Amino acid sequence: MTTAVFAGSFDPATNGHLDVVKRAAAVFDRLIVAVGSTTGKEPLFDAQERVEMLQEACAGLDNVEVEAFDGLLVDFVARKGASVIVKGLRCMSDFDREYQMAFHNRGLHPQIETVFLMASPPHIHLRSSVIKEIARLGGDVAGFVPEAVAKRLRDRA
Ligand code: PNS
Repeated sequence: MTTAVFAGSFDPATNGHLDVVKRAAAVFDRLIVAVGSTTGKEPLFDAQERVEMLQEACAGLDNVEVEAFDGLLVDFVARKGASVIVKGLRCMSDFDREYQMAFHNRGLHPQIETVFLMASPPHIHLRSSVIKEIARLGGDVAGFVPEAVAKRLRDRA
């Protein structure tokens, strides 16, 4: 049984994140979506809100769990008995950042593999930061995020 951890800030989760969740859940026996509590960025939604939105969006995916984590990602992964970190990749700037994190994580914990899933074409442009700006300025984000997220963005605007 292979447990994988899909880690991110998810502030908020987009349809691109959800696409990666579904595809990773089809590859691995168990998938934990891990919401970083401390990411160095000032989030719009606190960790609990981000977890709740993802739980709503992932309802019906039987082998998917969502939880927040603090501290080092590799420590969380090891604590959970997982052996794989899943990350989504959209473009070269994602790759630049992610391969550095993957090598640092491997240096910290060589037994944990990082696996990348390419974003699907309909979602390749989606960015949480841009979506937050659109919502803040009154735009319709319904096509970019799960309904649970769209609702909270509308409430927050
Ligand atoms: O969605 P993001 O912002 O790319 O997610 C980044 C996240 C939360 C996965 C990353 O910041 C992280 O792993 N934070 C935990 C702290 C840690 O382990 N840092 C060392 C990573 S090399």
